[in-house]
Amino acid sequence: MATLTVDNLTVEYKSGGYLVRPLRDLSFRAEDGHLVVLLGPSGCGKTTLLSCLAGLLTPTSGTITLDDVEVSSLRGSKMSRYRRHTVGVVFQAFNLIPSLSARSNVMVPLRLAGVRRTEARRRAEKLLTQVDLPERMKHRPARLSGGQQQRVAIARALAQDPPLVIADEPTAHLDYIQVEGVLRLIRDIASPGRLVVVATHDERITQLADVVVELTSHRTVSPATEPETVHLKPGEVLFEQGDASDWIYVLEAGGIDLYRELADGGEESVLHVDPGGYFGEMGPMMNLPRSASARATAPSVLTRYGLSQFRSSHTRRPP
Ligand SMILES: Nc1ncnc2c1ncn2[C@@H]1O[C@H](COP(=O)(O)OP(=O)(O)OP(=O)(O)O)[C@@H](O)[C@H]1O
Ligand SMILES: [Mg+2]
Repeated sequence: MATLTVDNLTVEYKSGGYLVRPLRDLSFRAEDGHLVVLLGPSGCGKTTLLSCLAGLLTPTSGTITLDDVEVSSLRGSKMSRYRRHTVGVVFQAFNLIPSLSARSNVMVPLRLAGVRRTEARRRAEKLLTQVDLPERMKHRPARLSGGQQQRVAIARALAQDPPLVIADEPTAHLDYIQVEGVLRLIRDIASPGRLVVVATHDERITQLADVVVELTSHRTVSPATEPETVHLKPGEVLFEQGDASDWIYVLEAGGIDLYRELADGGEESVLHVDPGGYFGEMGPMMNLPRSASARATAPSVLTRYGLSQFRSSHTRRPP
């Protein structure tokens, strides 16, 4: 039985001197046999989350628990064992070894784990039959279609019969006929004894899912209510870098500092907003997270607008 619990997961990267936080306090739970779909636009943290699940990246905070094993705290040989036996990985670009046949590609993880050649071959042949490639065992990747290569990659991920299989954009390079076959296979392998997590930006895949995790931290929340007044005390933070962009603010009184968090823990001032000025419009317009944090420098009064209200009440300011 496999149960996956992700609890308050946060990942921070240092990039170009700035702090990037693609995942922030993410929590979800999935049960044995489930197909979990991680959905979201480019840059929302799908590969980051899969890397944490695969044990390739240590989260900044929070926990990942598979059954009673806390993956995020595994180290050394326990982590190696987890990577080798507990999780099977399917990449977007298949990552097959070009000089080896389909069967030998599937045998690789088995041989690395010390399985005898004849047993590894027997198991590889069984897996390739399971993914519907019984006729293609001896073909090299270059002689297989994209969909067939992805099936080989799935067979390889299943070699150790892992309770967790993760797949990063497994259908990205495939035409629709191949997509259907690969999706059917992914749905089939999410069965008792196993849990499958697939990252995609293709919303159609959610039709097959038991659990959909929308990584919306980078997405715009577009509230469509009336403008509202917001009061801030000096030093109070209105939003933080990396937050979902929701409102656009007009400063009526007081002062607002926009600043970026630096990788070294410091801050960089971006802009000081005086009464009459507005800010925070780029995020909602471009569907981007907040690129800076906003904090009051004095007792402040603001009016917050949804994107459409803002558009109808303000003309565009020159860039
Ligand atoms: N090693 C790294 N160092 C710094 N920043 C990183 C690193 N890896 C990812 N990022 C940043 O973290 C954010 C999330 O990246 P990630 O690759 O997880 O997104 P994704 O949802 O998989 O996107 P895509 O759909 O394009 O594959 C992006 O802003 C990316 O630039
Ligand atoms: Mg990705």
